[in-house]
Amino acid sequence: MTTEVIWYGHAAIGIKTAGKFILVDPYFTGNPQASAKAEDLSPDYILVTHGHGDHLGDTLAIAKRTGATVVSNTEISQWLGKKDIKTHGQQVMGGFQHPFGYLKLTLALHGSVLPDGAFGGNPVGLLLTTQDHKKIYLAGDTGLFGDMKLIGEEGIDLAMLPIGGNYTMDPDDALRAVKMINPKLVVPIHFNTFDVIKQDPNLWAERVKAETKSEVRVLKPGESITL
Ligand code: NI
Ligand code: MN
Repeated sequence: MTTEVIWYGHAAIGIKTAGKFILVDPYFTGNPQASAKAEDLSPDYILVTHGHGDHLGDTLAIAKRTGATVVSNTEISQWLGKKDIKTHGQQVMGGFQHPFGYLKLTLALHGSVLPDGAFGGNPVGLLLTTQDHKKIYLAGDTGLFGDMKLIGEEGIDLAMLPIGGNYTMDPDDALRAVKMINPKLVVPIHFNTFDVIKQDPNLWAERVKAETKSEVRVLKPGESITL
């Protein structure tokens, strides 16, 4: 059994594991980096880290069309539930065994408002343990926080971290995050989509190589990793 992780650009990610297709933060419409179209993807599950438009993205349209179950915090789940979307609500540091793996919502230092101004609960990161025991940490939008060390203690195979700055960790803080998490492999995301988050991911990758034991890969939108 293998797990495939696809980066569609910005923070939109696909995971194929245990015969399921999972979309994370499916921002395709209006995403200048998007390597796929929302209407071409039919996930079984959609995971949403927080309410911002560049993460909630096309969740409503995709879930309505496919009947996918949306997993998010309880506030976003309730908001989607009122729109007749199938949901599963969890809370920060709460874990649940889904058919695709064990999903824990992690702390994220950020905001979370929904498109209509409704409160989107606490923003979260995602810590997924696949059925074949791979640990994937998708940090979501977050600043650096010391408890990333606790996440690292679980033994992370793949971490996908924002490096864009302004809304999230910048390259310096993302490098400090790698040192705390110690992932086998790290992939930078959430950069260059907009002018305010312009960064050089290759320069960052060189620093990761020089200063940590983690492998690093800079993906182009549409590229994937097999674990
Ligand atoms: Ni955000
Ligand atoms: Mn964002």
